[in-house]
Amino acid sequence: MKKVLAWPQGIKNLLVMLRSRKRSQLRGPTWIIALVSIVSIFLIAAYIFPPGRSTCYFLNSKGCGTYDELPPNIFSRELTDDETESRVVIKEILKSPSIQSKNPKVAFLFLTPGALPFERLWHKFFQGHEGRFSVYVHASKEKPVHVSRYFVGRDIRSEPVGWGRISMVEAERRLLANALLDPDNQHFVLLSESCIPVRHFDFVYNYLLFTNVSFVDCFWDPGPHGNGRYIEHMLPEVEKKDFRKGSQWFSMKRQHAIIVMADSLYLTKFKHHCRPNMEGGRNCYADEHYLPTYFHMIDPSGIANWSVTFVDWSEGKWHPRSFRDHDITRELLKNITSVSESTHFQSDAKRSMVITPCVWNGLRRPCFLFARKFFPETLNRLMNLFANSTRH
Ligand SMILES: *[C@@H]1O[C@H](CO)[C@@H](O)[C@H](O)[C@H]1NC(C)=O
Ligand SMILES: *[C@@H]1O[C@H](CO)[C@@H](O)[C@H](O)[C@H]1NC(C)=O
Ligand SMILES: *[C@@H]1O[C@H](CO)[C@@H](O)[C@H](O)[C@H]1NC(C)=O
Ligand SMILES: *[C@@H]1O[C@H](CO)[C@@H](O)[C@H](O)[C@H]1NC(C)=O
Repeated sequence: MKKVLAWPQGIKNLLVMLRSRKRSQLRGPTWIIALVSIVSIFLIAAYIFPPGRSTCYFLNSKGCGTYDELPPNIFSRELTDDETESRVVIKEILKSPSIQSKNPKVAFLFLTPGALPFERLWHKFFQGHEGRFSVYVHASKEKPVHVSRYFVGRDIRSEPVGWGRISMVEAERRLLANALLDPDNQHFVLLSESCIPVRHFDFVYNYLLFTNVSFVDCFWDPGPHGNGRYIEHMLPEVEKKDFRKGSQWFSMKRQHAIIVMADSLYLTKFKHHCRPNMEGGRNCYADEHYLPTYFHMIDPSGIANWSVTFVDWSEGKWHPRSFRDHDITRELLKNITSVSESTHFQSDAKRSMVITPCVWNGLRRPCFLFARKFFPETLNRLMNLFANSTRH
């Protein structure tokens, strides 16, 4: 299929090249001889390289390779109408330069069941930076009573959220949609009620706005809690080789937030075929797979592949470590802010740990701006530390 399409294109290119560049030298019989030779070369090549998984582009400097090495806009199979339409929209959005706002803001999207135990800490974080941020709160269980003026009146219309269910992704989209209404919002950060800032505002603002990538966590996990969650019902749109995993706590640029709004095709696939308690007793959690897989498929180089929200998985348990009052020390925060490589734990028998340096605009930089998970009891100690620290 691919080859049948690719070769006439190759001949066409050659013809165009010959016509434009060599017109003066190639006249009459010479022209016909050249054409016949070209066609013969392709026929011989077709014989030597029979159709199969590998594809050859004779006019492409890359030569022969597998489909995985082809440019992303060339597909190894025929796309459905929905996919083609979706790809066209995504490509156009990615191509168009983002509209520069005179007053760029970072939107902080809080996804919480109810009250935000660290509102006072966030207040301190935002104080003095009015006009450079906006706050949105999606409270899925009960309406929070806010203690900070930065949060009052910032609740959006919310729906119940089930852990690991598509309703979680829908709540994330609801937050993005509300924040996109303000054209000054140029970067969007998703946070939970147990998240805290580990840097001061200016650091966070510059880190997020002066780069052109989104910090969407994304890695390949060959184990049961990674690819083991994939089911073939996702075909043809989502292939197993594209299935990725990552923490849901993203930060993304405006262009990517719009691309998330534009999608219903892939979202629907995850809604129906990435759920807890699927057939065969399998569990899939849409909030851990939808965005990593989607961005891996449509703009892999546009995401950093790590989340700017720190979490400690080193205990190797089902849930990450939660920090208690006695854990909160200057050293702990120093440790978190000095991490400059991201670590992903795969769930296969080897339990491999994949370590990648955090590279920001080509420079090795600290990875984290926020951290989770903190018990509400840690608030006072964190407030003290945050107020006294000058270095971040
Ligand atoms: C981001 O900017 C860098 C230069 O700072 C450039 O090399 C790179 O292509 C850009 N990436 C995207 C996705 O626009
Ligand atoms: C993220 O990973 C993908 C491979 O999955 C890679 O193509 C891309 O370059 C990575 N992004 C950055 C910013 O390195
Ligand atoms: C900080 O990191 C050092 C070196 O990895 C480690 O020995 C120490 O226990 C860490 N301290 C805290 C409070 O996490
Ligand atoms: C922070 O500073 C205050 C007053 O300056 C002091 O009382 C408090 O002990 C300090 N906290 C820490 C954790 O250093």
